Amino acid sequence: MFWLHMACVKMRWLYMSLVVLGALCLYLSMHNLSLFKEDAFVFKKEHGQFLQLPDIDCRQDPPFLVLLVTSSHEQLFAREAIRKTWGKEKVVSGRRIKTFFLLGTTPRKDASRAVAQESRQHRDVIQKDFVDVYLNLTLKTMMGIEWVHLFCPQAAFVMKTDSDMFVNVRYLTELLLKKNRTSRFVTGFLKMHELPIREKYNKWFVSRHEYPWDKYPPFCSGTAYVFSGDVASRVYNVSDSVPFIKLEDVFVGLCLAKLNIGLEELHSEQTFFPGGLSFSTCRFKKIVACHFIQPQKMLTYWQALESSLGEECPAE
Ligand SMILES: *[C@@H]1O[C@H](CO)[C@@H](O)[C@H](O)[C@H]1NC(C)=O
Ligand SMILES: *[C@@H]1O[C@H](CO)[C@@H](O)[C@H](O)[C@H]1NC(C)=O
Ligand SMILES: *[C@@H]1O[C@H](CO)[C@@H](O)[C@H](O)[C@H]1NC(C)=O
Repeated sequence: MFWLHMACVKMRWLYMSLVVLGALCLYLSMHNLSLFKEDAFVFKKEHGQFLQLPDIDCRQDPPFLVLLVTSSHEQLFAREAIRKTWGKEKVVSGRRIKTFFLLGTTPRKDASRAVAQESRQHRDVIQKDFVDVYLNLTLKTMMGIEWVHLFCPQAAFVMKTDSDMFVNVRYLTELLLKKNRTSRFVTGFLKMHELPIREKYNKWFVSRHEYPWDKYPPFCSGTAYVFSGDVASRVYNVSDSVPFIKLEDVFVGLCLAKLNIGLEELHSEQTFFPGGLSFSTCRFKKIVACHFIQPQKMLTYWQALESSLGEECPAE
């Protein structure tokens, strides 16, 4: 009798604990949701100060294309290679082109000083006061977009790209001129139906807490995308009213979705290669952007392209 009674008490305890646990889970999940609603993860527009600004007066001399290259303190060789190759294109088909590097800050004093010095020398660094880590890439991209909004809304087009990319600035300019678009234009390597990666050890892992929805909006691969100048101010304008996500390309996609701006192909052929592409001069003459290019390769490819300028390529 006694043992039966004890078993009942135990069952009751188990039952009660389950109810309490369930209520706690419900409370926590509601709490998370409301946190989300209370903008706990919202991008702060006026976050940080500009520490370095590049030398350009866009009102006097509006550029056709501004290339914003995300970079970090350690990537000095990549910046040097870009400055010697596609970053040195200043005028293409009579249009002004400018290449700038986006950086955050590092607690390392020597690296900070070196970048300040580099910025004084080349006047092509845009830097703000946030910690320069991969997880802050959205801040870095938004700094570039804010810079265009504040200092260079006259730019006809803006490209956001990375330090390990080869960009064929001439072909890009040619295609943009052909496309003849002036506003609400966004192009790149389109990702129309991406899903959040929920595997914990993946580089692009995103928890349900960070992003509770099952699908991403359409976005362009962050390796290289291009938009008409007006898009910068529009994206900046809505950036504090979409949920924050550390994946910068998805974040920009969320802003574009909110703005009802669709993504478009730049050309009928593929021109953006986020997965890389093996080099040949003829191939690289007809691409816009290619990923996974080491600084040394950048210089070799550039030389090969320069010395083959007049040469014909077989028609496809
Ligand atoms: C991103 O930068 C902010 C501002 O400096 C900093 O508070 C935050 O810790 C950084 N994020 C990471 C993941 O380090
Ligand atoms: C570009 O578009 C404008 C209208 O938006 C048109 O007037 C002009 O002729 C177009 N130019 C070319 C080269 O297609
Ligand atoms: C920013 O948004 C406000 C209202 O949401 C709108 O009135 C304004 O025109 C927008 N500015 C730009 C540059 O899109």
